[in-house]
Parts: sequence; structure tokens; C-alpha cells
Amino acid sequence: KIVNVVLSGGVGSRLWPLSRKSKPKQYLPIFEGQSLFEKTVLRNAAVCDQVMVVGGVDNYHLSRQILNEKNIPFQELVEATPRNTAAAIAFAAISLPADSIMLVTPSDHLIGDQKKYEAALTQAVDLARKGFLVTFGLLPTRPETGFGYIEHRENEVLSFREKPDLATAREFLEKGNFLWNSGMFCFTAETYLKELEMHEPEVYEKSKKALQHANEGFLPKEQSMEIPSISVDYAVMERSDKIRVVPSNFSWSDMGSFEALFDYFPEDSKERKGNNLVLGTGEKHVEFVGVQDVVLVETADAILVLNRANAQDVKKVYEKLEKEN
Ligand code: GDD
Ligand code: MG
Repeated sequence: KIVNVVLSGGVGSRLWPLSRKSKPKQYLPIFEGQSLFEKTVLRNAAVCDQVMVVGGVDNYHLSRQILNEKNIPFQELVEATPRNTAAAIAFAAISLPADSIMLVTPSDHLIGDQKKYEAALTQAVDLARKGFLVTFGLLPTRPETGFGYIEHRENEVLSFREKPDLATAREFLEKGNFLWNSGMFCFTAETYLKELEMHEPEVYEKSKKALQHANEGFLPKEQSMEIPSISVDYAVMERSDKIRVVPSNFSWSDMGSFEALFDYFPEDSKERKGNNLVLGTGEKHVEFVGVQDVVLVETADAILVLNRANAQDVKKVYEKLEKEN
């Protein structure tokens, strides 16, 4: 069986005030009326037999609602507190039969070229069956420091480096044989757990223990707090020698910031006003006069006016508000 394990744990703080703890970005129906979560599940249904959602207690009902509406059967694991991706994937892997093929995907990416995407998945499933941890590599277009980099020779992975500094990222781009890690993975439950146990035994043991105390898919807070918070990229991908890569050419973007959204909306869409972008309820008429590169977001209870160049700083606003409340 091929299982789409959908990770839906982040808040999407760089998209505040659109994105809230109670309604993170992956559930906003702003992509031709669909949300990124919905798009993710539908895109993977082409290849997967089952869906398993691993998400947080603040918003699991939003995943439920979408899957029920679409009549897609699913299993769910609900985290009392986020313990990062190494653990989130471990919860799913421990719950599934050992020979299940897991296609682990974030729920907040926009992917185009479905045919190319499916071709990449088919290759990945083949490699996963042979006992590899499979990553998907995309041609880098800028020295982005928020991604993982895969040094490769065809399917072979020479090294994996998560979130390098700018100088290193530039070096990787110049060298030419590096790909961006897409953040999606494919492996059998057994392979993942074996590698996790080898490289990060505490995450493995404590995740197992937390799951033993789970109640109908709801993980307990107390035991979860003991699990070290580390991402799968640092915990396993940087260390394992079982990594392979499928070099891929589907279109892909991490819809993490307003700059990414700006690039998504075409110039003639109602959201775009010249070099400015307006998002939100759509209830108010908005005009821009004499300003360029501004993003204006209006919701029922908040307004954000953002210089496009500062798109990454929205996270700081979110964090400040979190502290105040
Ligand atoms: N259930 C659950 N629990 N999901 C989580 C948790 C958690 O504790 N933490 C993160 N996630 C989910 C996020 O919601 C997202 O869908 C996915 O896991 C990846 O987490 P991010 O926090 O978005 O990771 P990243 O973007 O910094 O880096 C990853 O993705 C990049 C591509 O977008 C890495 O895999 C990089 O190597 C990769 O380049
Ligand atoms: Mg991300």
C-alpha cells in the first residue's frame, strides 16, 4: 500500500493575518477557491491508496472537514504539541504496517505539471521498495538559505545539507551538481524507523512511547514533551547513507511568504494592482496611489501593510503578537 502522509503542523506565521493558529495557511481557499491542503491530497490521490494526516490539535478539524467533504477516507494522528518532523513522521511510520510505502508531503506547497509529478513519484516508489530514503530534487534558481541542498550524481546522493548559510548556498549553486530538497520524501515505514533509530534513537524511543499512550490517534502532551524537537532533514537526511534522489522538473513552490503569493497571482488577477497585491476578505474596495511593491492584507480584525522586500519579517509580527496574548 502507498500511503500519503500529510504533514500539517505549521502555523504559517509569515502569512499573518491571513494565516492564524486556528486557521493556518494550508487551509485558506485562496488558490482558485481551493486550499493547499486540498490540492495536496487530490494531487497525491493519483498514486496513493490511503491518506494519513499528522497535524496539530488546534486545527485537525480543518483537515477532517476537507477530507469528509471530498469523501476521501483517511486516518489521523493529532499532536498535542508540535515536536517537529522527525517525530511527526515517526508517529505515522510506527502506526503503519512495516512494508507500507510512505509518501510524506508537506501540505503547503503548490505544485504544477501533474504528469511530470506522477512520473517522479513512480521512480521514487521503485527506489523506496528497494530500501532507500528517497528525496525529490529540484533545480535551484537562487541561493535560498531556507531549503535543504542535495549534492548528487543522478539518483545517487553524495551529501545532504540542510539550510546552509548564504556563502555556502552560493558555492553550491556555482558547483552545479546540487538540487533543492523539495521537502517531500518516500520510503517504507521500516526503512525510516531503522534509520531514525540508528541516527536519533531518542526521537525513535520517545515517539514510540508517546504513541503507546495515544488515545484514538490523539497523542498525549506529557509524553510528547519528552521527544527532542528536530527536523527529519537534520535527524536523518544529513546522516543516513541510504538516501537517494529523484531529480525532478515539475513546477514547485513553497507558499511560505507574501512574496511567494505575489509571484503566484498573475498580473491581470483581481489580487494584483500593478506591483502591489491586495488579499483578504475582498469586502472593501482598495486602491493604491503613488506606492509600489506594497502588499495590503485586510481581514475582519487586522490589517497588514507590507513592503514586499520585507516579506520574511512578517514572522516577527506574528511572534510579537503571540507573546502579547
Ligand atoms: N505534523 C507536524 N508536526 N507537521 C510539522 C511539524 C510538526 O511538529 N513541524 C513542521 N511540520 C510540517 C509543516 O507544516 C510543513 O508542511 C512541513 O512539515 C515542513 O516543515 P517546514 O517548517 O515548512 O520546513 P522547512 O520549509 O523549513 O524545510 C523543509 O522543507 C524545505 C522545502 O520547502 C526541509 O525539508 C527543507 O530541506 C526543504 O528544502
Ligand atoms: Mg516549508
